[in-house]
Amino acid sequence: MSTIIAATNGSTSPTTTPPPSLPASSTTSPPAMSPTTIPNVAVPPRGVDYRNKIVLAPMVRSGELPSRLLALHYKADLVWGPETVDRSMIGTTQSTNPRNGSIEWSRTPNNSIPPPGQILKDSIIYRIDPKRESSKLIFQIGTNNPDRAVAAAKLVAPYCAGIDVNAGCPKPFSTDGGMGAALLTTENGDLLARILTALVTHITAVYQIGISVKIRLLSTPEETATLVHKLCKTGIVGLTIHCRTRPMRPRERAIRDQLRMIGEICRSHGVACLMNGDVTSRDEGLRLAEEYGVDGAMIATAAEANSSVFLSEAEGGKRPWREVVEQYIRFAVEVENRFGNTKFLLSQLMPGRDPAYQKMNQSKGYAGVVEALDLQKDEKLYSGAKALDTLLGLDGHKASKAEIKKANKSANRARCEANIAKKKQAAAEAEQQRQTNTKRAAEESEMQRSAKKDRREPPMTDGDQGKSPLQKAQIAAENAGFEGIGQGALEVAV
Ligand SMILES: Cc1cc2nc3c(=O)[nH]c(=O)nc-3n(C[C@H](O)[C@H](O)[C@H](O)COP(=O)(O)O)c2cc1C
Repeated sequence: MSTIIAATNGSTSPTTTPPPSLPASSTTSPPAMSPTTIPNVAVPPRGVDYRNKIVLAPMVRSGELPSRLLALHYKADLVWGPETVDRSMIGTTQSTNPRNGSIEWSRTPNNSIPPPGQILKDSIIYRIDPKRESSKLIFQIGTNNPDRAVAAAKLVAPYCAGIDVNAGCPKPFSTDGGMGAALLTTENGDLLARILTALVTHITAVYQIGISVKIRLLSTPEETATLVHKLCKTGIVGLTIHCRTRPMRPRERAIRDQLRMIGEICRSHGVACLMNGDVTSRDEGLRLAEEYGVDGAMIATAAEANSSVFLSEAEGGKRPWREVVEQYIRFAVEVENRFGNTKFLLSQLMPGRDPAYQKMNQSKGYAGVVEALDLQKDEKLYSGAKALDTLLGLDGHKASKAEIKKANKSANRARCEANIAKKKQAAAEAEQQRQTNTKRAAEESEMQRSAKKDRREPPMTDGDQGKSPLQKAQIAAENAGFEGIGQGALEVAV
């Protein structure tokens, strides 16, 4: 049995892995793996290892910036952003909010004329807090096309720690466009594998962050096993399995009988595996991960209802809803969250029977929310809420002509600056790509030279001695079943 040592997050660690097996009921075996020591796929320098992590799940509507900051405040190890469709990101304008430093990608709504006395506002498609979340944020993309996935991922890659592809959403808005769970079966998962390979090649290699995927169970263990093997060979660093099949509704109990097998397959490829489905707290997530032999757990609905589920029992466990809600309002005001979204989240976080809920529900702006929760004595919060109401046009104030002119002028200036920054970034990326290509060409010609030399010289008898790091990595990758991975992933492995 050969031993391969692979770099993981800068360190070297040997891991002994048994061959993955299907449940006793299985009839078709997945491609056989030799019982060997497998390297973990190397986590790129700006990326994160998903192992031993309890993380916030991607949630459309519920996973906006203030919710992610709230989860991190209560010690979530990593946070997934809500699925964002590639087309909606491509063509956005990037700018930095001068008041709070968050980076915003926005677009001007097509054909919209602002109501009299109001300023035409760009709609913000995505925002990131670079200081507080970038090193823990995984951007989840909705896509059905490798080129568009890469184009959209490039926009956010400098500001996040990983890109995840949504291949689990069963909702028609996703599957009708060939995205989400549709990718599980389109071309037997080949399109999904091509998307992941494209991201590994063009994003990991340039931005030094990992690529991952979130999937659901297929109808049989054999189908799931074949798909997981296929996806793990693309060079991804992580795979999340939502333990429900595509037709299952959210309120049906998650099924875990394929979980151990999926964990084993991921491990056999050196890919981290997170479990998802009906996990309700950090301690439970850690316990289940240990029980089923996976690397960590992802929490959705339990965190939507109370984000302090990420605190361990040793840290006091889940906090009372009022404390969580107060903290959420602070984040929502700080990041200037869309008011409709804030109200939606509050309706998830607050018990409907509490009198404050009714008041919150009737409020027309942030100041009203602060009053509903009786938080006026926090002067910073209250004045911030009032200022935000004015900014968002929630206080009934009609802007004067001069205000409109000023606001539009500064919006244009911000757009120009963003365009210049975009051009500079594109030039820097092109230069980086050129350097990567030159390095790759040099390595390839070095390999060819060594191969010629090897043909001339008798073979060495003592294993890996005399091989270049690239040759060793190739052998390691082949042993691990990575023969189909892109050159970018191989470079990372080196
Ligand atoms: C409100 C909501 C929005 C969701 N949005 C996404 C999404 O954007 N991307 C995704 O992969 N899954 C999405 N999901 C699925 C969750 O990430 C998760 O897989 C599912 O809720 C099961 O986890 P749970 O049992 O902890 O709730 C969403 C779930 C909810 C409740």
